Amino acid sequence: MIPAAVMSLSVVIFGTLMLQSVSSQSAGFVKSPLSETKLSSDVFELYCDVVGNPTPEIQWWYSELNRADSFRQLWDGARRRRVSISTAYGVNSVSVLGVSRLTLDDSGTYECRASNDPRRNDLHQNPATTWIRAQATVTVLQKPSIAASESIILTGDMDSLVLQCNLTSTSGSFEDSYWMKNGEMIHDSRGPNKNLEHRLNRPRGDDAGVYTCVFNFNNALSANATIEVRSAPLITGHKRSENKNEGDTAVLHCKSVGYPHPLWTWHKIESGGIKDVDNSTGRFVVSSRENYTELHISHLDINLDPGVYMCNATNLLGSYSERSTLRVRSHFAPLWPLLGVLIEIIILVVIIVVYEKRKKPEDLQDDDDLAGPVKTNSTNNHKDKNLRQRNTN
Ligand SMILES: *[C@@H]1O[C@H](CO)[C@@H](O)[C@H](O)[C@H]1NC(C)=O
Ligand SMILES: *[C@@H]1O[C@H](CO)[C@@H](O)[C@H](O)[C@H]1NC(C)=O
Ligand SMILES: *[C@@H]1O[C@H](CO)[C@@H](O)[C@H](O)[C@H]1NC(C)=O
Ligand SMILES: *[C@@H]1O[C@H](CO)[C@@H](O)[C@H](O)[C@H]1NC(C)=O
Ligand SMILES: *[C@@H]1O[C@H](CO)[C@@H](O)[C@H](O)[C@H]1NC(C)=O
Repeated sequence: MIPAAVMSLSVVIFGTLMLQSVSSQSAGFVKSPLSETKLSSDVFELYCDVVGNPTPEIQWWYSELNRADSFRQLWDGARRRRVSISTAYGVNSVSVLGVSRLTLDDSGTYECRASNDPRRNDLHQNPATTWIRAQATVTVLQKPSIAASESIILTGDMDSLVLQCNLTSTSGSFEDSYWMKNGEMIHDSRGPNKNLEHRLNRPRGDDAGVYTCVFNFNNALSANATIEVRSAPLITGHKRSENKNEGDTAVLHCKSVGYPHPLWTWHKIESGGIKDVDNSTGRFVVSSRENYTELHISHLDINLDPGVYMCNATNLLGSYSERSTLRVRSHFAPLWPLLGVLIEIIILVVIIVVYEKRKKPEDLQDDDDLAGPVKTNSTNNHKDKNLRQRNTN
């Protein structure tokens, strides 16, 4: 009995030791903050994720660059509420440090400190042994500023138009710059200029759009500014006429230049004037995107659908419309040429038959003197002549 009690006691003691060694774990980083470079007035966030048992406590500290001796603790709401700290204590401890509306003074070393050591706040302990630390360097650069031309409205009488972008301040080292129109780089516009100009000679509707100047830097994000060149829409392409068979689908389209992109509508021109397309049969579908519109009319009806349709492009600066004529042919229309050939064949046959008929009587009457009771004088004379000839022979 006694040995068994000793054994069970030792099992209990051993088990308790095991439990303690499993349950207690000193703090360790799962994710530590990463260094970054940001521009003034932007935002940065640093993440710190720590595992340990009991759940570790997390703190954030800051020091100016190269002043590692001057760390000060950060708190939620510091720096005139630009600093935010949110920490969740669960299986892990996870904390996010955010700093908004960055200024150049926010540059420095940010440190995540974590500990679950019960002696961590004991003033007789060296914090270096009770806390673990992870650092990230945040560099804040002056956001480049660009002085750009104002948005412009195109009118018909402009000789030329010059778009300008000047890079007025930057902390990064400038590399090069270029222009974009509607999201695509303008050919040959790349160069080493800090003062950019883009000239439009005799600007027309298709010069309207969104122009962007982009400045690139060696060690920082690029900067850009946009200039809108606006104009009333102008329809530059449409289908003048469409010929289809009844039952088919007709597709009419229009495309435009001008900016902002127009709102498209389709109408039908009736004797009473311009009417909205009557879609009670559900056969009309309009699909429009930016500078292009299509009107699909399915199961064409020869009585309802033929006529003149009009697309209308309207933006803030004006509107423009164009007309297309839709003709619908009957189902039998494709048979007309076939019918023509058929008629030609019939006429040909008739001609041949008639010709044969006019030729045949001669041949027949040669062999058969008793043919038809009606005889013309000419055949009689002819026969007499034959007879006479036979007689002479
Ligand atoms: C850009 O700089 C030039 C001089 O270099 C100046 O004439 C022009 O007005 C400036 N443009 C803008 C939009 O500031
Ligand atoms: C222009 O800058 C904005 C941010 O300021 C950025 O989101 C955008 O991608 C940039 N565009 C280009 C073409 O670089
Ligand atoms: C219509 O817009 C597309 C994309 O926005 C563009 O690629 C195309 O060149 C434009 N067409 C015209 C005629 O402006
Ligand atoms: C016409 O009706 C059909 C079916 O209801 C619909 O899908 C289509 O969008 C309508 N077209 C127009 C131009 O309203
Ligand atoms: C196009 O539609 C707009 C808005 O409905 C209208 O004001 C304008 O007169 C139309 N333009 C033409 C050319 O029909």
